Amino acid sequence: MGKTILATGGAGFIGSHITLELLNSGYDVVVFDNLSNSSPKSIARVARISNGAPVFIKGDVRDAAALNALFASHEIDAVIHLAGLKAVGESVAHPQRYYDVNVAGSTTLFNAMLHHGVKHLVFSSSATVHGAPKTLPMRENDPTRPVSPYGSTKLMVEQILTDVSKVGAGWSSMILRYFNPVGAHPSGQIGEDPLGTPDNLFPFIAQVAAGRRECLQIFGTDYPTPDGTAIRDYIHVMDLARGHVKAIKHLLEQRQPVNTTEVVNLGTGKGASVAEVHRAWEQAIGADIPARNAPRRPGDAPHYCADTGKAKALLGWQARYTLAQMCQDHWRWQQINPEGYGT
Ligand code: NAD
Ligand code: UFG
Repeated sequence: MGKTILATGGAGFIGSHITLELLNSGYDVVVFDNLSNSSPKSIARVARISNGAPVFIKGDVRDAAALNALFASHEIDAVIHLAGLKAVGESVAHPQRYYDVNVAGSTTLFNAMLHHGVKHLVFSSSATVHGAPKTLPMRENDPTRPVSPYGSTKLMVEQILTDVSKVGAGWSSMILRYFNPVGAHPSGQIGEDPLGTPDNLFPFIAQVAAGRRECLQIFGTDYPTPDGTAIRDYIHVMDLARGHVKAIKHLLEQRQPVNTTEVVNLGTGKGASVAEVHRAWEQAIGADIPARNAPRRPGDAPHYCADTGKAKALLGWQARYTLAQMCQDHWRWQQINPEGYGT
C-alpha cells in the first residue's frame, strides 16, 4: 500500500509545490490548512497538473480536536509541518501571534502525533535562526541567534521537536532550514501569491516587471559585498520540494536511527546579490526593470549562503535550477496569474 503524508500548510506557496512533488512520487497526500494565507485554488491546480489529487481538510494546527479527528480517520505515515506565519516584520509588531501559531500550533500537532503513534516529521525551518552569520557558508551546527520573533519561534520548535523525538516511541525527524525559496512550478499554474505589498525581493520585482508597481527599491548599497548589495542563497521552490521528498523517503525507509533529529540546510550554496537578481530578472523578461537605491532595511544581514554538504551526504540532494530559471519560472507564474489566485 502507498504511504500517506500529511502536509500542514500544504495549500501555501511551498506546501503546494511539495504536495505536487509527493503526488508525482507516488505518495498519497492529506493537506491540512486553515487558508489564512492561501487559496483552495492552489489545491485544485495541484490536482490538475499532478498524478493525483490530495485530500483537503480545512483546519487550524492549534485545534487539537481537529487534528485528532484527522489522525483517527486517516492512516498517516509521516508529517511535513509547514503551517505557520512567516512575515518577519509582522512578527516584530505582533509577536504573540507568532508564538501562538508557530510554537503552540507545533506542540498541539506533536501531541496529536504522539497520541496516534505517528512517528516521522519533517519541519519547515529557516536559515534565519542563525541571525547574522559569523562565517560563510553557513553550516547546520553554526551558532543560532535569531534576531526576530519569527526566527525565535523557528528555533524554539526545532528544540521542542528535537526533545520530543528523543522520547517518542519509534520517532525520527528532520529539520529542514530553507534559505530563500523563489520561483514557481514551470507550468505557471502554482506559485507564490502574497497578500498586499510583497516584502520579499522576487515577488516585488515580479510586480514591478508586470507594471503593478512603479519601481524596485534596492535596500542597501554599502554592504561589504563585491557590488555593495546584500547577498542571499535563492533556491527554486521545485528543488526545495524535491528535497522534502528525499527527506520523507529517508525517514520512512528508516535510514536514520530512532529517536534522532537531523538538521539539514536546503540552499544552492551559491549566493546572488540584489543587483545580480535585478539583472537576471531584466534578462528573463527582456526589458528594463526600474530600480532605485534605498537605505538598508533594518535587521538585514549582508550575506547568507548555505553549506550544502550535509544535504548531499545525507539525502543525496543537490539543487539543480539556476538563477535564470528561478526568474523565468517566477515570471511565467506572474504573467499567467497577474492577480495570483484571485478571489
Ligand atoms: P505560506 O504562507 O504560503 O504557507 C503557509 C501555510 O500555512 C498557508 O497556506 C497558511 O494558510 C497556513 N497556515 C497558517 N497558519 C495556520 C494555522 N494556524 N493552521 C493551519 N494552517 C495555517 O508560506 P510558505 O512560504 O509556503 O512557507 C511555508 C513554511 O516554510 C512556513 O512554516 C515558513 O515559516 C517556512 N519558511 C518559509 C520561507 C520563505 O521564504 N517562504 C523561508 C524559510 C521557512
Ligand atoms: N530587498 C530589496 N528590495 C525589496 C525586497 C528585498 O532590496 O523590495 C532585499 C533585502 O533587503 C535583502 C534581499 O533583497 O537584502 C532578500 O530579501 P527578502 O525579503 O526576499 O528575503 P530575506 O533574506 O530577508 O528573508 C527570507 C524570508 C525569511 C527567511 C529568510 C531565510 O523572508 O522568512 O529568507 O534566509 F527566514
